[in-house]
Amino acid sequence: MKSIEYIKESFPNSSDQSWPWWPLLPLYPYGRRRTLFKEIIPKQVWSFEQTQGLYYVAVPVRLTVAKVPGGLMLINPLPPTLELQKILKDLEAKYGEVLTIVLPTASGLEHKISLPSLARVFPKASIWLCEGQWSFPFNLPLDLIGISSSRTKFLFKDGLPHSEICDWHSLGPLDIGLGRFQEVACFHKPSGALFVTDALVGIEEEPPAIYELDPTPLLFHSRDRGDQPLVDSLEARRRGWARLVLFASFLRPSQLDIPPISEVLRFSFRSGVRTPKAHFGIFPFAWKEDWEESAKKLLGKKRPLLQVAPVLERLIFPRAKESLFDWLNQLERLKGLKWLISAHYSPIVSCDGYRIRDLKKRIESRPWADSNDDYKFLGGVDKLLLKFGVVPTDPLKAFKD
Ligand SMILES: [Fe+2]
Repeated sequence: MKSIEYIKESFPNSSDQSWPWWPLLPLYPYGRRRTLFKEIIPKQVWSFEQTQGLYYVAVPVRLTVAKVPGGLMLINPLPPTLELQKILKDLEAKYGEVLTIVLPTASGLEHKISLPSLARVFPKASIWLCEGQWSFPFNLPLDLIGISSSRTKFLFKDGLPHSEICDWHSLGPLDIGLGRFQEVACFHKPSGALFVTDALVGIEEEPPAIYELDPTPLLFHSRDRGDQPLVDSLEARRRGWARLVLFASFLRPSQLDIPPISEVLRFSFRSGVRTPKAHFGIFPFAWKEDWEESAKKLLGKKRPLLQVAPVLERLIFPRAKESLFDWLNQLERLKGLKWLISAHYSPIVSCDGYRIRDLKKRIESRPWADSNDDYKFLGGVDKLLLKFGVVPTDPLKAFKD
């Protein structure tokens, strides 16, 4: 396994981490994408991790590499910086060429944005896409967004890649108004690993290792006021991580107040924070006293907590619980399932039929798509979208007949 030290020693040059296409989706860390590489199942599965987000709410995002007969399969593209390419070339030398690149989600913009660049790095690889790809705000043909239709196939419609060792399980399609939600999970039988994109994640209370490369997002959000400098400590990193998870899960957590602009400006531009890194002290957040109680519900102690992300529950599945459960039932029956490897958060999560049953029980024991407490903001957004007809009342209707 190549450690963080390997990355630091082998690629000290930040130009190896440069990502020139960042203006297409201007998210932190913008033009510099540090990559954490890990072999997560020996000789079978590898993880390439970067962070990505808005206003320092940058959470881990993952490209998964799996051994397949004759070479390698890449699932969920990431910006192919030189650093990432060099490690992938090392893997190719050992395990065979990249044969397949899979984008198994129809809607996840953060996963599809780097597909054209990654496809150019491996011109001989075949590209498999989830059907119903769409881009926002304009729905452009694949060729126009740089994905050559001549080397592209669609999952299910044109078959399935590596079906001798992989089972593919679709969640959706669902009509979410702006486009289609669908993601296709891949069960890689040789490793017992289930690859998913967004629908299932595992989160734990310890900050993920990727922040060793750049703890700024954690330290920025660990503070309570804009005039406080970014100070590194284990405690600050844990507090920042818990808050990032709350932001990413609920968009506007109920435990967060947005102070008036006069209050924000009062603590801005003070000495010690007059730097771009500290956003010049502009910090429009005020956490309520018991914010940690909300975070505890999402963070696993000692091991990642398997869950459906609240933002998906409340904005994608509020009227499609049955579709989600149909998919979970398929996963529960997988023989030899040992691990969940999703495109966000913890790289590898213990997962088998028992754990999926437990997840279903936890979901059944509380109201689904609630609009109270932590879910208040998301519930309000969903109600508004319904009211203005942006999202349909029946997400399956468009796909019937
Ligand atoms: Fe995602």
